[in-house]
Amino acid sequence: MEYRGPKRVRASQKPMPEIKHPQDAIVRVTRSCICGSDLHLYNGNVPDTRVGMTFGHEFTGVIVEVGPDVTKVKVGDHVLVPFNVACGECHFCKQGMFGNCHESNTQASAVGGIFGYSHTAGGFDGGQAEYARVPYANVGPTVIPEGMDPDDAVLLTDVVPTGYQAAEMAGIQPGDTVVVFGAGPVGIMAARCCWLFGAGRVIIIDKEDYRLEFAKNYANCEAYNFEKDMDDPVVFIKKQTDFMGADCVIDAVGAEAAGNAMQTITGRKLLLQAGSATAVHWAINSVKKGGVVSIVGVYGPTDNLVPIGNVLNKGLTIRANQASVKRLLPRLIDHVQNGIINPKALITHRIPLEDVADGYRMFSAKLNNCIKPILISPSANL
Ligand SMILES: NC(=O)c1ccc[n+]([C@@H]2O[C@H](COP(=O)([O-])OP(=O)(O)OC[C@H]3O[C@@H](n4cnc5c(N)ncnc54)[C@H](O)[C@@H]3O)[C@@H](O)[C@H]2O)c1
Ligand SMILES: [Zn+2]
Ligand SMILES: [Zn+2]
Repeated sequence: MEYRGPKRVRASQKPMPEIKHPQDAIVRVTRSCICGSDLHLYNGNVPDTRVGMTFGHEFTGVIVEVGPDVTKVKVGDHVLVPFNVACGECHFCKQGMFGNCHESNTQASAVGGIFGYSHTAGGFDGGQAEYARVPYANVGPTVIPEGMDPDDAVLLTDVVPTGYQAAEMAGIQPGDTVVVFGAGPVGIMAARCCWLFGAGRVIIIDKEDYRLEFAKNYANCEAYNFEKDMDDPVVFIKKQTDFMGADCVIDAVGAEAAGNAMQTITGRKLLLQAGSATAVHWAINSVKKGGVVSIVGVYGPTDNLVPIGNVLNKGLTIRANQASVKRLLPRLIDHVQNGIINPKALITHRIPLEDVADGYRMFSAKLNNCIKPILISPSANL
């Protein structure tokens, strides 16, 4: 696929990717997903998203070629490829901060490289394609364990680790009440993972009834519609928690957030801030004093309107990051193999890669009860 400008993507013929560095590998893509993060690009909200770029940071593939320095994977291996492009050797990778690699994104000092994610994240072409170049092939690509369904494997590249890290960063103590804003794939997975950390009550909030219904069943949590079930989400959460506030709140919405006209106009229409900060705003105001706000919803590299005074005066801890996929993979592969997490249940649509434009339209507009769409290329052969 390629990006043609805001709200325009299309399938097109592009040159075969080539080995450019001795540690590169080329994969024949077997699965790729469309993610909520792709919507920030699709909507034109991420600076330096260049026309012609191939999106896609969640993919699996069979290795068809390796550079001379690739030793950890070989031609024929079926691998899952973490969304972070990481060198494995820098100061940050060594601490397990694979989402903040200092080498893979020379354009920025914040996020590391991300496949298919604009030149602010390194400018790497992504995996919504038949073939993709995978740099640092000794670090990221991980052989899909024997017997694992590729549909599960492709969700281990992002959704599962991101949902899990959202719960991990929330610092959940046994019995805690956790509120998750956003019932997309990431929020649903976060809600599911909160139980693994000992939550006593998990509440998810969105505006799409079908997603709330899905979340309720999949994550065994309470689910409420902020447009229908309440006037003000902050007051609602206070009422649900003896007017104390939730112990932990997770923002799994990010820059496309709805629900506040001023945030929407300044963040999404006029682009005066790096996306609408509605969910993070609600999170800060509805968590209890001394509580934790965990942000995995993505915002752009510039500024946002958030109530920082309330963070200070309530004594909050804010933890946020891109997920560090490689750090979490061993644990999460175990959880999938032991049946503790069932990622593929999130997949609602399988779309031929040629119809990628329809896929973006459907996922973006939340049509056809779509939770998670995957793209299947003609050469997937699986
Ligand atoms: N940190 C990471 O590593 C990482 C990785 C993957 C995705 N993400 C981010 O996580 C977020 C969610 O991803 P997704 O794939 O689930 O996206 P998605 O677009 O499918 O889901 C977002 C959901 O938020 C809902 N929503 C909108 N405004 C809301 C509000 N004010 N309160 C509550 N819900 C609201 C939408 O209706 C939608 O269902 C995105 O911002 C994405 O960029 C982060
Ligand atoms: Zn993603
Ligand atoms: Zn690094």
